[in-house]
Amino acid sequence: MKHFINLKDISYQNLRKILIDAKNRKNKRKKLDTLETDKGAPLKGKLLIQMFEKSSLRTRLSFYLAIKQLGGGTLTLRSNELHLGSGGESLEDTAKILSTYGDGFMLRTDSDKKIKSFSDYLSIPLVNGLSPSSHPTQVLSDIFTVEEIKKKSISKLNITWIGDSNNVLNSLIAASVKFDFKLNIGCPKKYTPNKDLLNWAKKINKKIYVVNDAKKAAINADVIFSDKVLSLNDKVNKKKKLSHFKNFKVTQKLMRKAKKSCIFLHCLPRGSEVEEKVFSSNQSKVWQQALNRVHVQKSILLYCFGKLR
Ligand code: CP
Ligand code: NVA
Repeated sequence: MKHFINLKDISYQNLRKILIDAKNRKNKRKKLDTLETDKGAPLKGKLLIQMFEKSSLRTRLSFYLAIKQLGGGTLTLRSNELHLGSGGESLEDTAKILSTYGDGFMLRTDSDKKIKSFSDYLSIPLVNGLSPSSHPTQVLSDIFTVEEIKKKSISKLNITWIGDSNNVLNSLIAASVKFDFKLNIGCPKKYTPNKDLLNWAKKINKKIYVVNDAKKAAINADVIFSDKVLSLNDKVNKKKKLSHFKNFKVTQKLMRKAKKSCIFLHCLPRGSEVEEKVFSSNQSKVWQQALNRVHVQKSILLYCFGKLR
């Protein structure tokens, strides 16, 4: 069994294997209904336990469908209804019970420490469904979407990020190292990406650039990514933070700096960082991006369960 916690810690070979499997499975189920099982039901009889300490729509639904389509089932726990949530049971004992009753655990949490502790104590696979420092299932799925639309390896494309230096960007930086693509990051000076991560990444991938100018970052882009300026449970002065990002909006004018064929991606939910005209344009592929989470997470689960061929 394997955990899926950070893209940084997973080999390129395994990440690529996941994407290839996802593509094959997606192609094969074109005529199947939402809840129909993939041929062979590779995770028949398996239970994925999910727990969300923060809101979620897409991650919740996509993991539900992912395990169902592989022949297994899921149970979603509310963290505030667990003894752990009210401080009445240790994390170690909770992990032991999860490992006894279930076959996999998907956790969305506000605490990287909690992810680390669960990974130490669980004897079943742990999937990081978003933590303060990364959102690996989202970004691997986004690589899939980019290659599906562009019909070429992401290593041949110019990828741009406009916005906050958050968990999604961290995973994108890690992905740029694993998949070897050019990454332009456009963010205000005050919101520069995590130094340790950036130093590690830049040592391996010489094509990562951070600029404090959205227009410069967008030049010649094949893909422009953005995300909410205010992340879930962001403990900041919201008005102030939003004002710092006023020049980092994805507008039609900004999209014109990129290649004509440039696409716009956003993990959702969205805020004011993207203009409606861009969001609802033909260049925006956000709905396809959202649905691809199901396909890629199926292959992530198979990787975790040691069933990826
Ligand atoms: N993109 C994403 O993770 O969406 P949710 O927060 O709705 O799960
Ligand atoms: N950066 C966002 C992603 C939401 C899916 C957040 O952490 O809230």
